[in-house]
Amino acid sequence: MNKRKIFTMVCMLFIFVLIISSFINAEEKINLPPIKIENSLHRALNKRRSIRDFRNKSLKFSQISMLLWAAYGRKMGGIDAITSATHMVASPNELYPLKIYLMVTEGGVEDLKAGLYSYQPDTHTLEKLTKTIAIQRKILNILNSQRNLKEAPVFILIGYDKKISLGRELTFYEVGLSAQNIHLICEDLGIGTVIFTSSQLEKILNGIFPDIEIITLMPVGYPKWQLRAF
Ligand SMILES: Cc1cc2nc3c(=O)[nH]c(=O)nc-3n(C[C@H](O)[C@H](O)[C@H](O)COP(=O)(O)O)c2cc1C
Repeated sequence: MNKRKIFTMVCMLFIFVLIISSFINAEEKINLPPIKIENSLHRALNKRRSIRDFRNKSLKFSQISMLLWAAYGRKMGGIDAITSATHMVASPNELYPLKIYLMVTEGGVEDLKAGLYSYQPDTHTLEKLTKTIAIQRKILNILNSQRNLKEAPVFILIGYDKKISLGRELTFYEVGLSAQNIHLICEDLGIGTVIFTSSQLEKILNGIFPDIEIITLMPVGYPKWQLRAF
């Protein structure tokens, strides 16, 4: 057999292998049914985006109530009879280690004084923390890397109690669920937010709550720009 014949046979073999393998890997493309935006949840999911520029406009106290409830409140109607779920987010072993804090700037919320508050899911109340001016200043300083975020009227801090949690890694899932709830309720309320992370936040409450580690901070307010109409 001359070289030319061998070369032709190798080429044909190669093409044959290519054709066979393309059949083996053939992917079937299945079109999904069309998206239908039919209710407020669909709209909120579709609208959700990070808002980093805020208008100088106070939030309503009722909006704060809904925000905190969505973040980590107790479910209305009591404990779920089938699953025993109690809170707005899933929690490993139902331990619920998250702690939600609200920092209100001067005039940031109608009918609520400026300051740092701890949200109490069981009673759906706010506990005003005292002597926190230094902490509040530190929180705003941490935002220096993204100065526009400092203009938000309120800031939600999501942390967790190290004594209660099953570990940092698992708790991050729960923080993510709470943050997504905050994102979605914001869209529903016509306001906006963004997840802000910084390792400097971790020990920010150490002076008053040594066991609390803050994971994320979410500035909340009316968006400065409305790019899309829904
Ligand atoms: C874990 C996490 C950390 C984030 N940290 C920051 C942050 O520090 N600063 C910021 O401006 N955005 C932050 N973001 C928001 C992302 O930048 C944003 O989600 C991304 O640009 C996609 O845009 P979208 O949220 O509008 O869809 C963070 C998002 C996640 C999920």
